[in-house]
Amino acid sequence: MLTIAVSKGRIYEEALPFLADAGIMPVDDPKTCRKLILQTTREDVQLVIIRATDVPTFVEYGAADLGIAGKDVLLEHGAESLYEPLDLNIACCRLMTAVPKDAPPPQGRLRVATKYVKTAQRYFADRGIQAEIIKLYGSMELAPLVGLADCIVDLVDTGNTLRANNLEPRDLIMNVSSRLVVNKAAMKMKNQAIATLLEQFETTLAQR
Ligand code: ATP
Ligand code: PRP
Repeated sequence: MLTIAVSKGRIYEEALPFLADAGIMPVDDPKTCRKLILQTTREDVQLVIIRATDVPTFVEYGAADLGIAGKDVLLEHGAESLYEPLDLNIACCRLMTAVPKDAPPPQGRLRVATKYVKTAQRYFADRGIQAEIIKLYGSMELAPLVGLADCIVDLVDTGNTLRANNLEPRDLIMNVSSRLVVNKAAMKMKNQAIATLLEQFETTLAQR
């Protein structure tokens, strides 16, 4: 049995064609079904649809053999313990700093709101910028509007969320897309099955 952990939401939706090309179609729809383990049209493959930030944890501990997660989440988790053999080029966006439009440069220590605490800490430290990182779990764009932070580190795609909140993007931290990750022990123990799946995903990717 192969267990694949997939981030719910947009990554799951965008990963479906890759899975379908490999003959993997969930038997139940996770939007309407409360089951946490989804059986699929392949007897040897099951899916667990979980929060984005939990995917690397499941794969690292071998609770899932493979996972599909954003590079943002993998970097924040510290994914040295996982193999990352394939960029699926889905759920593409950018991790950026953003500030209120026309804001004067902040005095003293920069206050940064983000859910990417380690990534932000590393980013500002590398540039010699003293930053106080304030951990949030969502709606980062709100923080500068209510005086909680000078700046945010968050994902930007269309830029609509920033514009709607009178913020502007500043510096690109990295381009983000979703990756296939593999548990290291599973790569050895289930090599044949995983190698075949990888080839199928690569074929889908090449046809896009
Ligand atoms: P949770 O609510 O569980 O913390 P989330 O709200 O971050 O998760 P999503 O918004 O579905 O979940 O984001 C999952 C992943 O999708 C992110 O880690 C990132 O890789 C990618 N992503 C997030 N926002 C966008 C976006 N606006 N455009 C494209 N990809 C995005
Ligand atoms: C993500 C991200 C930004 C927004 C950027 O939020 O956290 O707020 O998308 O996309 P845009 O540039 O196209 O506006 P998401 O929609 O996932 O909401 P949530 O993370 O707050 O649940």
